Amino acid sequence: MRLQDKNIIVTGGASGIGLASVKRCLEEGANVVIADIEESDGAALAQKLDAEHSGRCLFKVCDVTDTTQVDTLFNDTQAELGSVDAVFNNAGIGGLCPSDELSDDDYLRIIDINLNGVFRVARAALRVMYRQGSGSIVNCASILGVFGQSQTAAYTAAKGGVVNMTRTLAIESAPKGVRVNAIGPGYIDTPLLDELDDEMLQGLIALHPMGRLGRPEEIANAFLFLASDEASFVTGAHLLVDGGFTAGKS
Ligand SMILES: NC(=O)c1ccc[n+]([C@@H]2O[C@H](COP(=O)([O-])OP(=O)(O)OC[C@H]3O[C@@H](n4cnc5c(N)ncnc54)[C@H](O)[C@@H]3O)[C@@H](O)[C@H]2O)c1
Repeated sequence: MRLQDKNIIVTGGASGIGLASVKRCLEEGANVVIADIEESDGAALAQKLDAEHSGRCLFKVCDVTDTTQVDTLFNDTQAELGSVDAVFNNAGIGGLCPSDELSDDDYLRIIDINLNGVFRVARAALRVMYRQGSGSIVNCASILGVFGQSQTAAYTAAKGGVVNMTRTLAIESAPKGVRVNAIGPGYIDTPLLDELDDEMLQGLIALHPMGRLGRPEEIANAFLFLASDEASFVTGAHLLVDGGFTAGKS
């Protein structure tokens, strides 16, 4: 068991990459908190997984745009479980729009969840992990943190910010026993892609040398590695898990 008795929080854990990561962590012996804005889905999932994994999964509602909810999530988890050993800072939204048509509200909403939310969660995690003297924070970035793509100005700004913020957090926290890394998924088959029409999707698949979308479980495996002690000398990394998307064109 690679995460035996570790206590792990997964934001956005009720769907897609987050849910696959929750399941993978449970398989490896961790106690897992699903933290999500989707209260009914999250609570039902946690109840089912808790029954399947001997009482090791619970749900806490958390909107990552709300500092109080984020701080409460971490303080309550530490109080209830005794520690927070790793967090997958994964909650996020998409949002395609030509830049000249993008409203302030839509732009700010994407930044507030995908960038500011990642900071709120990382800050709360650091406070708890500094008290413990250990911990692993894994931020969900994207290939769109290092590549541009039309109609994604807010999303790419947020993900680029996550990649570089990860480096700063890693430098600050290394002397205090905390590691901070990011994962950069290629296009992964989750509900986030529902807004793409089939033609767009086929065009994006063709940009991956492996010729397919990634599976949520393939990102979960990267999270598992970075969360675990196997990655004890890895910090400040942006681990691209993208079927070769960023390697170049054939
Ligand atoms: N699917 C992809 O192709 C892909 C590629 C690169 C990066 N990512 C990133 O992976 C992460 C997970 O995305 P996914 O594809 O699993 O999407 P998803 O839509 O399946 O899951 C996202 C989860 O985040 C939750 N969420 C949304 N807003 C929230 C908020 N304010 N507070 C708390 N939770 C909130 C949703 O309820 C949902 O459960 C995101 O950060 C996304 O940007 C996805």
